[in-house]
Amino acid sequence: PVARLIKRPLLGRHVLVTSGPTHEPIDPVRYIANRSSGKQGHAIARAAAGLGARVTLVTGPVALPDPQGVDVVHVETAQEMFRAVERNLPADVAVFAAAVADWRTAAEAQQKLKKSGDKPSLDLVENPDILGNVGKLRSGRPLLVIGFAAETANVAGEAARKRKSKGADWIVANDVSAPTGTFGGDSNTVRLVTADSAEDWPPLSKDEVALRLMQRAAEHLGRGAAA
Ligand code: CTP
Ligand code: CA
Repeated sequence: PVARLIKRPLLGRHVLVTSGPTHEPIDPVRYIANRSSGKQGHAIARAAAGLGARVTLVTGPVALPDPQGVDVVHVETAQEMFRAVERNLPADVAVFAAAVADWRTAAEAQQKLKKSGDKPSLDLVENPDILGNVGKLRSGRPLLVIGFAAETANVAGEAARKRKSKGADWIVANDVSAPTGTFGGDSNTVRLVTADSAEDWPPLSKDEVALRLMQRAAEHLGRGAAA
């Protein structure tokens, strides 16, 4: 039993992961989206399952297969993602790897907009901050809340700011302006920001980032935070 616990340190834990982009419809054929392949989020779901966790993966539209041994909830919009996250709490660990569209259109056109008409202007409203809402839950907050920050400038400063403002425990930050090409690629160079530390990890595959992150999560839970 001891060896089993060491190999599967997330046994008995529930890990909730968001992944992929969200699509916000403009009309029946057009949408607003963020750039995200879902590779990092899906890798985290696989890694958590491999370490023994029960995993719920809430994913926007991606061109990836559903990971095996994971409960997958497919959503399209940020509001759907938010509702799916709420429905699938409580969790011991929640990881927000999704690239959520920050805005949606105030009203979706029911008919396809024609370019022959007037130049359209989009009335946008802000989407709910899913990580921010879960991070600041007064009751039923996951023991460990992990957010991501994809930045093109001031990575360290933005990561620390977002960690606090969203009530996250950890932020995994990366510089998406880097020539290594995080978007769509298989490797990732990240900085892990916690309450009392900031570590620059070497360039790693997204699978390796996922495994290290979930091993760290298991250690963190093991050090006191009982389910
Ligand atoms: N996030 C979320 N819901 C949103 C927006 C962001 O859950 N509506 C989460 C992302 O999944 C990520 C973290 O918040 O874990 C940071 O996302 P990011 O887009 O970097 O943060 P924003 O607060 O939207 O700031 P920005 O203006 O830089 O886009
Ligand atoms: Ca954003």
